[in-house]
Amino acid sequence: MPQLAAPDVRFHASFLDAVREFTDAGSDPAALVGEEIHAYAKTWREPEGFAAFVDMLLAETERPRRPDWVEMTNLWYVQDDVFLGRLSIRHRLNPFLLDLGGHIGYAVRPRVRRRGHATAMLAAALPLCRQLGIDRALVTCDATNTASRKVIEANGGEFEDRRGVKLRYWIRTGN
Ligand SMILES: CC(C)(COP(=O)(O)OP(=O)(O)OC[C@H]1O[C@@H](n2cnc3c(N)ncnc32)[C@H](O)[C@@H]1OP(=O)(O)O)[C@@H](O)C(=O)NCCC(=O)NCCS
Repeated sequence: MPQLAAPDVRFHASFLDAVREFTDAGSDPAALVGEEIHAYAKTWREPEGFAAFVDMLLAETERPRRPDWVEMTNLWYVQDDVFLGRLSIRHRLNPFLLDLGGHIGYAVRPRVRRRGHATAMLAAALPLCRQLGIDRALVTCDATNTASRKVIEANGGEFEDRRGVKLRYWIRTGN
């Protein structure tokens, strides 16, 4: 069964495969691994470089990678040693996140899309949001991103409004 797991060096090979898939599909790997990651991309082929990347992701619950970012929990969606996607939970909303970014960001590697992974991954994240004290999670997507909109709606997203290109939905994380 696929599950959300903490980033770990044991996914090194599979993670690099996923990045390659993302690039081949014409997507910026930043969508897969988060922004500001290009510095790590120079070294993450080597075990030490990948370990440093993983450590940075794990530390982000307390040390955001950028001064204007908030603390976040970075999770990988995995099955055995295979990396399927990523999901990040931002612990609180700053003005940018409240407007556009939302609490949760996610991506699924191209080869395994349209199998329900994003829908399941978001569902699995909601109890974790709850544990972090987030009773209602804001999740946003581009108006043109049909797949992401369906993922949000399948998880009970209640549409609030559109701001620029972004559709904003709130999802209750518990009863
Ligand atoms: C958006 C994304 C996460 C969806 O991942 P996924 O695992 O393919 O999603 P699911 O399999 O759970 O599909 C959810 C729904 O979207 C539909 N869908 C998936 N890809 C689609 C596409 N390219 N066009 C239209 N619908 C699509 C599925 O058929 C499914 O619909 P259904 O519920 O009616 O059956 C993935 O396409 C992705 O990583 N995109 C790039 C990053 C991104 O956009 N992240 C979201 C930022 S808000």
